Amino acid sequence: MKYRTFKKTGQEVSLLGFGTMRLPVMANDSNKIEEEKAIQMIRNAIDKGINYVDTAYMYHNGESEVVVGKALKDGYREKVLLADKMPAWMAKDESDIERIFNEQLERLDVDCIDMYLVHNVTSPIWKKVEEFNVINFLEKKKAEGKIKHIGFSFHDELSLFKKVIDSYPWDFCQIQLNYMDINFQAGIEGLKYAGKKEIPVIIMEPLKGGKLTDSLPPSVEKFWDSSEIKRTPAEWALRFVADFPEVLTILSGMHTMEQVNENIRIISKADAKSLTENEHQIIRKVSEEYNKLIKYSCTACKYCLPCPQKIDIPTIIKFYNEWFLYDGSKKTRADFKTWIPPKRVPSTCIACKACEDHCPQHLPISEIMKKASDIFE
Ligand SMILES: NC(=O)c1ccc[n+]([C@@H]2O[C@H](COP(=O)([O-])OP(=O)(O)OC[C@H]3O[C@@H](n4cnc5c(N)ncnc54)[C@H](OP(=O)(O)O)[C@@H]3O)[C@@H](O)[C@H]2O)c1
Repeated sequence: MKYRTFKKTGQEVSLLGFGTMRLPVMANDSNKIEEEKAIQMIRNAIDKGINYVDTAYMYHNGESEVVVGKALKDGYREKVLLADKMPAWMAKDESDIERIFNEQLERLDVDCIDMYLVHNVTSPIWKKVEEFNVINFLEKKKAEGKIKHIGFSFHDELSLFKKVIDSYPWDFCQIQLNYMDINFQAGIEGLKYAGKKEIPVIIMEPLKGGKLTDSLPPSVEKFWDSSEIKRTPAEWALRFVADFPEVLTILSGMHTMEQVNENIRIISKADAKSLTENEHQIIRKVSEEYNKLIKYSCTACKYCLPCPQKIDIPTIIKFYNEWFLYDGSKKTRADFKTWIPPKRVPSTCIACKACEDHCPQHLPISEIMKKASDIFE
C-alpha cells in the first residue's frame, strides 16, 4: 500500500480508502447488506494496509454505518481514520442536526468520528448548512472530542467550490474526480485550488461508480486492447487520480473481495506524478471515445430516490445510456424488459422534478424519462 501524509497531524493515510456506499447486498436489495461478506472485505482491506473507511448516514439506508461499526470491532477501530457525514438536507431544524449526529455515533457504536464531512454540498444544501449553523455545531463536537477533523464533500459548480473552500479553514475536502470528469463540478481546477491552500483532497467516484470498468462500449474496449501498455480499465482509472499529489486518499466503493484485492494491488504501485505523457495521452484518447457515446452522466449515487412514482431512475438512465453505447442493441431492450416492471416504466413519471433537486449531476431527469419511454416502451 502507498501512503500519503496528512500534514496537519503527520498521520500516514493509505492512498486507497474504502468507500462503503456499494457494499455487497442480498437479492439486489440495497437495504440488505451481506453483512458477513462486507465485514470480511473491510477487515481484509485493513489487514492489507487500508486505513481510511468512509460511510454516510444514508448509505444502504443507514445499514452501511451499522456494518462499518461491526467491521471496526475487535481492534480494527484503532487502525483506521473513520469518515462519516452530516446530511443537512435531511434535517428539519437545528435540533435535527444533533439528533442525526447522535444516531450516527450509536449506529457506528463509537465515541468519536475522525473525519467528519458536511455531506453533498450543493447550493441549496450549503444554504441549509448556514441556516442550521452546522459548522458551529461541528466545532462544538470537535471541542468535545467527538470529531477530529472537519471537511465537506462536494457536488456542485466550481465557483461554489471555491466559495466554500474560502469560507472556512477546512481540515480536508472530498470531490468527485475521474478521467471523464476532469472539468465537471470541482474538477482538476478545484483540486489544484484546494491543493494551493494546503487542504488535502479525498477523491470519490474514481471509476465513475463502476462505469469505467463495467460494460465497456466496443470502441473503448478496442482501444484498450490495442494499447501497447496493458492494464485493466480499473488500473488506468485509479492510476489517473493517484497521479495528482494534492490527493490524500482515493475512495473506491468496492463491492467484491476481488475488487478490494485488485485495487490494493493497483494502488501499491501508484506514485504521484508517475504517469508519462504517453500514458496521459492514452487516457485522453479513451475519454474522447466515451464522450462520443455517453448521453447522460449519471453515477447511480441514488440521491434521486425515492421517486414518488417508485421509478428506479438510475437504472432507467443506465439503460438509456446503454442504448447509445451499444448502438440500439436488442440486448438492452431485453434487459429493460427484465428489470423494469410494467408499473414502473419511465412513462409513469409525473415530472414533479423532486429527483432533480437532489441529483448531484443536475440531470434533467424528467426529460430523460420521456426520451427513455420513447425508446423502450
Ligand atoms: N460524499 C458524497 O457526496 C459521495 C458521493 C458518492 C460517493 N461517495 C463515497 O465515495 C466512495 C467511492 O465512490 P464510488 O463508490 O462511486 O467509487 P468507484 O470506485 O468510482 O465505483 C465503485 C464501483 O466500481 C467498480 N469497481 C471497483 N473496483 C473495481 C475493479 N477493481 N474492477 C472492476 N470494477 C471495479 C464496482 O462496480 P460494479 O458494482 O459494477 O462491479 C464498484 O461498485 C463511495 O463508496 C462513497 O463512500 C461519497
